[in-house]
Amino acid sequence: MKATALAPANIAFIKYWGKADPPTGEAGDALRLPLNSSISMNLSACTTTTTVEFSDRYKEDSIESTDGEFLQKEVNRVTKHLDRLRERAQTNQRAKVLTKNSFPKSAGVASSASGFAALTVAGAKALDLALSDNDLTILARLGSGSACRSIPDGFVMWHRGKSSQTSYAYSLYPYDYWDLRDVLVVVEASNKKISTTEGMEKVRTSPFWNRRLRDMPDKIKTMKKALATKNFRLLGEIIEAEAVNMHAVMMTQRPPLFYWNGATMELIRAVQLWRAEGLPVYFTIDAGPNVHLICEVKDEDTVVQKVKNLSVLEQVIVNQPSRGAHVVQNHLF
Ligand code: DP6
Repeated sequence: MKATALAPANIAFIKYWGKADPPTGEAGDALRLPLNSSISMNLSACTTTTTVEFSDRYKEDSIESTDGEFLQKEVNRVTKHLDRLRERAQTNQRAKVLTKNSFPKSAGVASSASGFAALTVAGAKALDLALSDNDLTILARLGSGSACRSIPDGFVMWHRGKSSQTSYAYSLYPYDYWDLRDVLVVVEASNKKISTTEGMEKVRTSPFWNRRLRDMPDKIKTMKKALATKNFRLLGEIIEAEAVNMHAVMMTQRPPLFYWNGATMELIRAVQLWRAEGLPVYFTIDAGPNVHLICEVKDEDTVVQKVKNLSVLEQVIVNQPSRGAHVVQNHLF
């Protein structure tokens, strides 16, 4: 009744911003059906390891991280997710959950994707649930949308779907398909103020969300082509345009969401300059000020060096594409 899983965070090349189904409550009862399909890469250096044990000994669920912190903000959502697992296993046993991130919490890296992916895989294993890979991604999606993309290997597609059973993620290519790098530049270590769940509820107040959706099928087609042909320039151009597109929607929502800060803008300008000088590197940004620099392995050292010469930097985390969530043998307790 005890199992441990390790799951990577992922960086979206094509982003998920907005749900098709209405939000229903704090604990996250929503099905988390996305407005559009998305594509991402798993990140080797940003992982969550989680041990889950179900037992009659436990009178209530306990959810903690190894740095001693009680995940107060997440407790409702995690308990709700444990309920989903219990329902499938037809048990009432409470659980102890201990979780550990490979990256410092202060890095401000979103951990809901790796967190819910690890919780899903460890919980399903602990309860001996016979779930297909597809089912695991569907279950993880119910915890946090982007978590479904942290389950399959390498480069991953989350198919939008029209129902819970048809909204799942699968691997487009394994992690060793293309030796890309994600040089994650942490410019601000504090946690983001507006959560993604809350932020994307207002997506339809932006005058641009509809336009974004209309262009999506073509964008996804081009992204798939860039991946299939390993066309780095094409990939980079879409990644950047897509990140700016999503943030334009965020900034034009009511109330507006400005996740960028001055350092974010400074990095964007630096990337444009480096590219003009002949260095192939592109940026993408999620729901925070930190910037992911995507490059090929041959340019990794140059990109890291250039970043370190800037003043904006708090920390750099270099990621390779990685495999998806999987069970590991060493328990955290
Ligand atoms: C900006 O998966 O965190 O990172 O489903 O409400 O938990 P919930 O949202 P979440 O949203 C991620 C948004 C994003 C873009 C992306 O990763 O695709």
